[in-house]
Amino acid sequence: MDTMQQVRDRYLEHLARFKAAGYDRAAAVRFVVDQLEHVRGPVLDVGSGQGVMASELARRGVGVVTIDVNAEEQRLGAVNAEYEGVADRIVFLPVDARTLPFPDGTFRTVDTLDAIHHLTDGPAVFSEMRRVLRPGGRVLLAELTAEGLALVGRMHEAEGRGVHPVGDVTIDAAIAWFESNGFRLAARREGHLHIVAVLEKPETGGRA
Ligand SMILES: C[S@@+](CC[C@H](N)C(=O)[O-])C[C@H]1O[C@@H](n2cnc3c(N)ncnc32)[C@H](O)[C@@H]1O
Repeated sequence: MDTMQQVRDRYLEHLARFKAAGYDRAAAVRFVVDQLEHVRGPVLDVGSGQGVMASELARRGVGVVTIDVNAEEQRLGAVNAEYEGVADRIVFLPVDARTLPFPDGTFRTVDTLDAIHHLTDGPAVFSEMRRVLRPGGRVLLAELTAEGLALVGRMHEAEGRGVHPVGDVTIDAAIAWFESNGFRLAARREGHLHIVAVLEKPETGGRA
């Protein structure tokens, strides 16, 4: 198995290649999280990947639980969190977002970054995100624009990782799902190759 230093070096090289191609992931995740203005924890991060989002949230001082079906991605994310000095504020759990092992209303913020296009069953995931969010809590949705997806597709192939999988679930479908389930769209912005939406769960009267 690779050493932690090898994992970290490979990740930094990957980020540098993306930045050179026009996608600065660090700047993009800051832009995404800035849409919350003030981050309220505890936060559930859906689709950890290698932990870009989880680490940025933890840097803002909140506790983060991050879940992903891919335990290997989470192992790499945990290495990154160690190097970035935020590992003590992040819990990595290998869990499918369709069946979250948390009681209703556990989190004040639930987010997902660049995972929507990987989902096979959007409504099942959105329903679980809604359930574990407490009344008055906020959902932060962030997804690559068409230009961003095209860039990531080119980079995947250039890195020898084959075709980047892009499914049918879109951020607009996600926004529409939350709005039709009582959430209020508080913000929708575009920047850094991303579309970002913040939606608020009603304090009362919304479905659990
Ligand atoms: C591009 S990565 C997300 C990047 C990540 N948010 C970050 O901050 O670095 C997409 C992730 O979504 C995960 N994913 C896809 N479907 C999932 C599901 N049903 N439950 C949990 N994770 C899922 C994939 O395993 C993958 O690691």
